[in-house]
Amino acid sequence: MSATEGSTELKIYQPPAALAGSAHVSGMAAYEAMCQAAEADYEGFWAGHARELLSWKTPFTKVLNESEAPFFKWFEDGTLNASYNCLDRNIERGLGDKTAIIFEADGGEVTKVTYKELLAKTCQIANGLKSLGIKKGDRVVIYIAMSIDGVAAMQACARIGATHSVVFGGFSAQSLRDRIEDTGAVAVITADNQVRGGKQLPLKSIVDEALALGGCDSVKNVLVVKRSGAAIAMTAGRDLWMADVVASQPTSCEPEWVSAEHPLFLLYTSGSTGKPKGVQHSTGGYLLHAALTTKLTFDLKADDVFWCTADIGWVTGHTYITYGPLALGGTEIVFEGVPTYPDAGRFWKMIQDHKVSIFYTAPTAIRSLIKAAEANDAVHPKSYNLSSLRILGSVGEPINPAAWEWYHQHVGGGRCPIVDTFWQTETGGHMITPLPGATPLVPGSCTLPFPGIQAAVVDETGKDVPWGQGGILVVKKPWPSMIRTIWGDPERFKKSYYPEDFKGKYYLAGDGAIRDAKTGYFTITGRIDDVLNVSGHRMGTMEIESALVSCTELVAEAAVVGRPDDTTGEAICAFVVLKRPRPTGDEAKAIAKQLRDWVGKEIGPIAKPKDIRFGDNLPKTRSGKIMRRLLRSLAKNEAITQDTSTLENPAILEQLGDNH
Ligand code: WT7
Repeated sequence: MSATEGSTELKIYQPPAALAGSAHVSGMAAYEAMCQAAEADYEGFWAGHARELLSWKTPFTKVLNESEAPFFKWFEDGTLNASYNCLDRNIERGLGDKTAIIFEADGGEVTKVTYKELLAKTCQIANGLKSLGIKKGDRVVIYIAMSIDGVAAMQACARIGATHSVVFGGFSAQSLRDRIEDTGAVAVITADNQVRGGKQLPLKSIVDEALALGGCDSVKNVLVVKRSGAAIAMTAGRDLWMADVVASQPTSCEPEWVSAEHPLFLLYTSGSTGKPKGVQHSTGGYLLHAALTTKLTFDLKADDVFWCTADIGWVTGHTYITYGPLALGGTEIVFEGVPTYPDAGRFWKMIQDHKVSIFYTAPTAIRSLIKAAEANDAVHPKSYNLSSLRILGSVGEPINPAAWEWYHQHVGGGRCPIVDTFWQTETGGHMITPLPGATPLVPGSCTLPFPGIQAAVVDETGKDVPWGQGGILVVKKPWPSMIRTIWGDPERFKKSYYPEDFKGKYYLAGDGAIRDAKTGYFTITGRIDDVLNVSGHRMGTMEIESALVSCTELVAEAAVVGRPDDTTGEAICAFVVLKRPRPTGDEAKAIAKQLRDWVGKEIGPIAKPKDIRFGDNLPKTRSGKIMRRLLRSLAKNEAITQDTSTLENPAILEQLGDNH
């Protein structure tokens, strides 16, 4: 079906009839009824789902506590255990022999674990952690590749009430050190190596390097999972092989029953200052939304094979690998490798081999696979049998309509709805998303709020703007899986998410949005703060600037902006003033490479600027403020049409526009 609006063709895709009739939420009337139920009795709505989807050791009697707003509490007098809910509960329901995880290694070897086996493994790790004195409330940093061990390590922490903080394997020793120090972790769980795209990356030696940088005295032990068997250094008294720690441990472990508000995990993400923030999530509210959104957004059913391609180092991997699908007793894929190895048909081959029915990935992956498929039929989805697919998902950044159409037609065979899920590390789970059996889809729009989520678009004063007019995305009511605080920095939590400008009333997402004038559908227009989104990875411009200026030998000043990029969504562009005369030609190229590597070492390869330009100075106002909007135009190589009359040094623009 299609409709025409003005001069632009607005395509609308209705849910396929079969799905509309059988989905957990069938048809728009069912969706609207859920929204109305939440409207009529907000606490009752969430409480009902919390009772239905989770097992409580002590049932909660209070639902929402707003007395210390914006530090909201949900289900606070209830106790539960996340790992019990994800594992034992399914076994008690008769799913013990059901496959929980199908793991495919980089090289293609497949390992499956059932719920019973995953529970046994989790309990052994949990008991091993306890044998080292690790207990409820301790923090454990996990720096490991995609693996069954990684998921089990997270579940094991949850089982004993330890708060995990997973650090993505692509972060550098310095970034890892910063996170270890901030959490005050007592242990680090890692692997000897990580294997991706046929290459080995030394995780354990990066942990060694991080700990040697200092400030990590809280760490008593490093537990090492054997992945590749490469020779690594072990520090006596500190480092232990995971296999030795768990060898004699029993395969059962009484769960530690914790309050619903107990911090299940900390996950670091970028903000608008140089220092990443440790987003703290709860146990009860978080797990509820993980389970509810997995059930409704993906319509997860008993015989589905669910595949979320995200890494467990990001929130998507937490919610839609470690917690959501397992809380529902689902079968899921965990993939160690990369989409382009051994070739760009890897995703399609895996969907075919494992009969994946729900596939959830990022636009940046799709865009790069489109390029590869268009150049080579052998890696085109049409060369594979993808008939097992019934639902597709997208996450992490806006999906452009062209990529959406390709994904829909070539991967989904024109029959699978695409759920374009908008959410954030801080929100714990989906916020604005279609429901596949209900919501008519419009490519490029994340459509409508998940039932119970009070998303709105407002102006600077917090007033609703009319549909059709852009504004600031907020959430008007607290929801169960929301961020509880920034670890160790409650003031920053308030300032970042409940600023005074909005009278502290609304959760500020940090994104701009616009609602369609007719349908009210949401389109996310991008970050309104100094945060970039590169290949779905969130990076703070200040963080990259700090990394650049920390190269004190070379760099005097640096400013970083984003620029649109066809494949990665945004690309990082850095403007740098050196402590030496402005380089040109080969010298500029060599220094740019040196700085790129420096940023790679300071933060991680994902933060390396794509474009580095040198100037004698940066464009500044007479009061010394860097004019970033000019830098954004320069980065795009677009003509400067803005008013430059307040600029102290207009001549600098020409220099910085010159892309050596
Ligand atoms: C930022 C959050 C959500 C898990 C992965 C990223 C952008 C996320 C969408 C989407 C448009 C999106 C936003 C958001 N974003 N999903 N479907 N459409 N933009 O989590 O690293 O916390 O990043 O990603 O800008 O604020 P994150």
